[in-house]
Amino acid sequence: MKIMSVESLTQLIAQYGFENYMSDLMEVIKEDFIRWETFTKMPRPAMHVPGGVLELMPICDNQQYYTFKYVNCHPKNPERGLLTVVASGQLSEINTGYPLFFSEMTLLTAFRTAATTALVSDLMARKDAHVLALIGNGAQSEFQVRALQLVRDITEVRYFDIDSKAMEKFAKNMSGSGLRLVGCKNAEEAVRGADIITVCTACKAHVDVINNEWVKAGVHINALGGDTVGKTELEVSILPRCKVVVEYFDQSFVEGEIQRLSKDEASTLIYAELHELVKGIKTGRSSQQEITLYDSVGIALEDYSALRFTYELAKKFEIGEEVNITPVLTNPKNLIAELNNNEKII
Ligand SMILES: NC(=O)c1ccc[n+]([C@@H]2O[C@H](COP(=O)([O-])OP(=O)(O)OC[C@H]3O[C@@H](n4cnc5c(N)ncnc54)[C@H](O)[C@@H]3O)[C@@H](O)[C@H]2O)c1
Repeated sequence: MKIMSVESLTQLIAQYGFENYMSDLMEVIKEDFIRWETFTKMPRPAMHVPGGVLELMPICDNQQYYTFKYVNCHPKNPERGLLTVVASGQLSEINTGYPLFFSEMTLLTAFRTAATTALVSDLMARKDAHVLALIGNGAQSEFQVRALQLVRDITEVRYFDIDSKAMEKFAKNMSGSGLRLVGCKNAEEAVRGADIITVCTACKAHVDVINNEWVKAGVHINALGGDTVGKTELEVSILPRCKVVVEYFDQSFVEGEIQRLSKDEASTLIYAELHELVKGIKTGRSSQQEITLYDSVGIALEDYSALRFTYELAKKFEIGEEVNITPVLTNPKNLIAELNNNEKII
């Protein structure tokens, strides 16, 4: 089995190139959404604990691979010097059930979230969108901007975070990007006049990070931080003004911005699940005036894409450590022999 540590992934990205990795991952995600019906999937089970949530995200393609990701969200972790979101994941072959690949997924989550957001933005944002408002300048933020630049000619990023240190970090990281970086004193200043609004804040509560009256016609919103029970970012009155796309209704209804609606209201409001846009069954944007919303929660399919793509690259570039996570036996019924290798146990 191949193990992909943070160090190995960093090496892989350096070798393959950040931009190549992001754009190729976007293509892989697209391919996988096109075969949506072929997957066995389920809304992720979540366990809520004081200050956070722990989630498991399984999926099976019924042809080759089964994957799962373990992920958390603890918004107060940065106060202790820890990441809000960390993740790890596994890919197994379905013929035998043997695990083939175990990977760090904190970085992979940032990549796959940004790649999926860019994919959706390409389908829903105006072609002439140049100004991005980025609310929440934490771990996900730079990935989001770099991915969006692959699908739109972004010239200006208006950014805001309640933590001025996060804003400073973001500005420093993006300083060589050629983008016009406009630090804003509040979310309203960032949002007014923007063509695309990406909200990725972390707070386990219903917070009106974006107010309805700031949202103008023609804007596209990526709402990423409303992704578990009791955690949303948009003033709820924004929702009925939007053409809303979700990844997977059964999970999004529990976790997304739409959790604040009744099931009937949500079913009526939702325009499409993402796979319908990717397959071209439904149109992302039909006018310059429309307000579009990607109510993102993050689903197992995106992690499956990241795992299968990274596994292929890890084999190609021979990166990652080979370890036995399952016993290698000449007689598979003689498991006890594994323990007898070094010292006779029985
Ligand atoms: N939808 C998905 O697929 C997906 C994937 C990954 C992360 N997320 C979510 O995205 C969010 C951001 O994740 P992260 O890893 O960047 O977390 P992070 O803690 O590193 O960054 C979040 C930032 O939001 C800021 N913030 C909190 N409340 C704010 C407010 N009212 N206005 C402006 N800024 C505010 C914080 O100061 C922090 O800098 C989390 O809620 C996480 O659960 C969603």
